[in-house]
Amino acid sequence: MNNSALEAYGKEFKSDNVAKRVLGTKVSPIKEMRIIAQDYNNVISFGQGIPYPDTPTIIKEKLSKMLIEKDISKYTVSPGLLELREKLSKKLSRLGITADQNKEILVTGGAMEGIFCAIMATVNPDDEVILFSPGFSSHIEQVRLAGGKPIFSFLKEKDWGIDIDDFKKKITKKTKAVIVSNPNNPTGSLYSKKDLIQIAKLAKENNIIIISDDPYNFLVYEGEYFSIASIPDMKENIIACFSFSKEYAMTGYRIGYAFATEGMLNQMMKIHDACCICASSLSQNAAIFALDSPIGTTDGIKKALDENRKMIMNGLNGIKGLSYVEPKGAYYIFVKYEKKADSVSLAIDILKKVQVEVVPGSAFGPNGERHIRLAFGCRPEKIKEGLLRLKKYFENVK
Ligand SMILES: Cc1ncc(COP(=O)(O)O)c(C=O)c1O
Repeated sequence: MNNSALEAYGKEFKSDNVAKRVLGTKVSPIKEMRIIAQDYNNVISFGQGIPYPDTPTIIKEKLSKMLIEKDISKYTVSPGLLELREKLSKKLSRLGITADQNKEILVTGGAMEGIFCAIMATVNPDDEVILFSPGFSSHIEQVRLAGGKPIFSFLKEKDWGIDIDDFKKKITKKTKAVIVSNPNNPTGSLYSKKDLIQIAKLAKENNIIIISDDPYNFLVYEGEYFSIASIPDMKENIIACFSFSKEYAMTGYRIGYAFATEGMLNQMMKIHDACCICASSLSQNAAIFALDSPIGTTDGIKKALDENRKMIMNGLNGIKGLSYVEPKGAYYIFVKYEKKADSVSLAIDILKKVQVEVVPGSAFGPNGERHIRLAFGCRPEKIKEGLLRLKKYFENVK
């Protein structure tokens, strides 16, 4: 089975001059499916996780005015604008995290760049990094690019919660880091405070770095979000990455931030400087406007997405051969199918036959196979139409 959707679709990847570290990786299938979907018309996308609202008008208006009236066209200092870091420090304090704006915050090109800097700064070739599976596909590729070895700790299928016993078994002398993303993408499960405290304790005892990546911490429908980075006395073991993408509907601005000790943050800054110097000055200013504006409370978005969640669960209940665990947060539902096909072939076939974009479950780790991920951050009318097409596909297509 070919795990890369682009290769399975027939895209050319052969070249004589490619470094070994790249050969062992692939473009995240989430983005592969987005690229493949460009070949089809009238596609309903349950693929990449993009919230449907546009960036709030207040941010766009302030940014346009600033672009005309001030010169914000220059590089900023590598850690990011101080004014932004001051506001981020205040925002982090609301999650129970105490961060010195002068030394412990790095503004990054989305959470993705922050995580990559964290991995590159900590993982040596052949080091092991524990990833929860199913888990975010890009973490797997980022670890591989750094020469590290992803070690998968399987979530419990009944609720996609952490299996502490399995996690303990996965710790070896080579374990360097664990990546924790809560609520989980692709399952939408919310990890319990008790399990996160256990992970933190084990990490401390075994000198393991926790890389936390919580872009959906504002989007919890049932239960209470708890930040692993807020656990006292853990600072030396934590690198926490955050994002503006989902909370402020700013995915294309590519802006996020990382929190770590001064010593670690300065090491991460070497990677940040080497790959992009600084985050976009325009986006940093937009982030300041986002933090200044009252849209920080995302109850409106949350309510709309909760309606989507209920709609997609109801629709899926009416399709034979599909099942799922109810998501408690984020905007993903991880759907198990009975059809006899691997998830990459299935995702491509669904796109070809009924023009619905989904992500193959194998993207999210070894126990993701025989699942597809549906993102429900899109408009409700799209969800309705997409569900009709999926029903047609699963109940009629041989
Ligand atoms: C778990 C997780 N981390 C990181 C990202 C990317 O965040 P950003 O846009 O801030 O790079 C995503 C996007 O879907 C995600 O689901």
